[in-house]
Amino acid sequence: MLTPLEIEQLKIKYLQPLEASKKLNNYFGKDIKEGLSQRPKKIPSKYFYDDHGSQLFEQICELPEYYPTRTEASILRQYAAEIAEITEICELVELGSGSSTKTRLLLDAYDRQNEVFKYMPIDVSAGILKESATQLKQDYNSLQIEGLVGTYDQALTQLTPTSWPARMIFFLGSSMGNFNEIDCDNFLNKIAQVLENGDYFLLGIDLQKPKSILEEAYNDSQGVTAAFNLNMLAHLNQKFQGNFDLKSFKHQAIYNERKKQIEMYLLSEKEQEISLKNLNWKVNLEKEEKILTEISRKFDVEKTKHQLESKNLKPIKVFSDENNWFALILCQASK
Ligand code: AVI
Repeated sequence: MLTPLEIEQLKIKYLQPLEASKKLNNYFGKDIKEGLSQRPKKIPSKYFYDDHGSQLFEQICELPEYYPTRTEASILRQYAAEIAEITEICELVELGSGSSTKTRLLLDAYDRQNEVFKYMPIDVSAGILKESATQLKQDYNSLQIEGLVGTYDQALTQLTPTSWPARMIFFLGSSMGNFNEIDCDNFLNKIAQVLENGDYFLLGIDLQKPKSILEEAYNDSQGVTAAFNLNMLAHLNQKFQGNFDLKSFKHQAIYNERKKQIEMYLLSEKEQEISLKNLNWKVNLEKEEKILTEISRKFDVEKTKHQLESKNLKPIKVFSDENNWFALILCQASK
């Protein structure tokens, strides 16, 4: 149980919907209809994350084959104190905080250094956000928490200037890899826009490596990634009153060496008609037809540094593991 003072230091706010999503042409299920009308067919990756999908993702992070979470945590364990020393006291803003597990390694470092500090976790799931914020408030006495419920876009357009000496936005887990090049560029523009001169941006990126290691990470032996991929269809069934039969789809993840990205597909094992009753809409799938559900781009440190530099996000230090499998790039905004 939190004391009244602790409750005062823990705030959860809901972000406002964006103007674009209020517009009439942005109707319910538009992205699904558009994606399933393309060739190859696509389903936006955001549909992975219903409650069960989020739990499956937490399980993926623990898998022996899925090295990114472990590797990024080991880098944070080794360098969090150095990061806190460089930035000194600042407001910590995390995009896509989830359960904030890895974040604790950073919070520990700031906790050791400061009497009070502030953490703003941002996540679309109000449930996970409230739960983890309450737990963090119990564990870190000197922490002020202001959680924001919403998407990255909502957060980056609605963040107000900080009263702390500086702000550090961090985006861990190589989630930027799930954006295509255009979305990635737009995202970095927004980060650059919201940061004031001297503020920081800490970015976690998964690096290019042999195909076999990557494909194993996305085709784990326990089938958790397959369940995560297929769960998207269960989520669509529930949300749009669909009739996807999960047994007639197969998980597939391949590394596209030319594009340097993992591509995750759901493969229809038979010819079938899918109906989404809520949308009053049907679509046909051929036997062996693939639906693209996710890309996970793998980065090159030098190229990413140049891209950041071009947005006036000046890379000041790169932290990596001994295999160079994953990197954290600490940048400072210079305007
Ligand atoms: C969330 N994101 C960074 C994960 C990734 O590795 O691209 C999602 C994931 N998909 C399958 N396994 C994990």
